[in-house]
Amino acid sequence: MALGLAVETSCDETAVALFDTKKGLVKDLVASQVSLHAPFGGVVPELSAREHVKNLTPLLEELFRDTPYGFEDLDFVAVTVTPGLLLSLVVGVAAAKAVAHYLNLPLVPVHHLEGHVYSVFLNRPVEHPFLALVVSGGHTELYLVEEFGRYRLLGSTLDDAVGEAFDKVARLLGGSYPGGPFVDSLARKGRPTVNFPLPKVKGEFNFSFSGLKTAVLHFLRKNPDYPKEDVAASFQKTVAEILISKTVRAVERFGVKRLAVVGGVAANSELRRRFSELQREGVEVLLPEPRYAGDNAAMIGLVGAMRYERGKFAPLDLNAWPNYPLEKFGREWT
Ligand SMILES: Nc1ncnc2c1ncn2[C@@H]1O[C@H](COP(=O)(O)OP(=O)(O)OP(=O)(O)O)[C@@H](O)[C@H]1O
Ligand SMILES: [Mg+2]
Repeated sequence: MALGLAVETSCDETAVALFDTKKGLVKDLVASQVSLHAPFGGVVPELSAREHVKNLTPLLEELFRDTPYGFEDLDFVAVTVTPGLLLSLVVGVAAAKAVAHYLNLPLVPVHHLEGHVYSVFLNRPVEHPFLALVVSGGHTELYLVEEFGRYRLLGSTLDDAVGEAFDKVARLLGGSYPGGPFVDSLARKGRPTVNFPLPKVKGEFNFSFSGLKTAVLHFLRKNPDYPKEDVAASFQKTVAEILISKTVRAVERFGVKRLAVVGGVAANSELRRRFSELQREGVEVLLPEPRYAGDNAAMIGLVGAMRYERGKFAPLDLNAWPNYPLEKFGREWT
């Protein structure tokens, strides 16, 4: 066995984990910054980075508490190097490098989306191939994962990410940041009585959400007294239909009947229900536990462990990048 420390600071969660290559996740912690950014209606990059600086060391200390392990038991250090807010990423990368350098341990770079993609395997063995629908705050992408490191991008959003659409629609409905959980709970009290149009999108597996957001805006302007719960439920139903129709097409086209739906928006109750229904049609649908749908370091630990076992380490001049295509990263680091 080998024990890894995982560090994730790509956006507004400071997260750390201990991951054992044989036994799996030992412990993970997430310090959320939601209340810090909420008054601004979104993440403020500089504040986020400063908060990581403040939180990371105490969080690392707490990580080892009540475990049989200390820093001296570590075999490798995994860290999210891309994509994300550059200022935030560099805090985690610098910390991981310091630990790796001081303890003379291999440093293992992880792509944040790789973490999301494999988050469904935190409590079961990894099986390839599978389709991965990444639905998060910054991404809406469909991948065919042929093998570890072999990620084929089939389609992506041409405008807003689905999480972004949730956040914007939440604001229109009077909610605050982050909007996903707000829309989700509002929708549970309503019925999908409004028929929002489905977008016509170029590219077989591409998505679009800005038209839907605008349709909600126009509808609310015309019907200010319409029950907000029903608007939320209708919006969510349309989102589910957009995502499911494209994904089912990919299942048929590639004959891959294992589907992972991952990222922060995979915590959405309606999406989970609707995607789970595909099981009846013979598709194995894998969803992360809701607490591992959003950003966390457990998923970074899992991918770090796979990369560590393949002996793929980074030099100590490793850097962070705000953007790096997953396909390319997989090719270069596997
Ligand atoms: N129950 C929910 N329903 C819908 N959306 C949700 C729910 N819970 C969280 N979200 C959304 O998930 C998004 C955050 O997801 P995540 O933390 O994975 O994104 P990110 O890390 O900011 O972006 P990325 O992973 O693309 O870099 C937010 O847009 C939030 O509104
Ligand atoms: Mg994320």
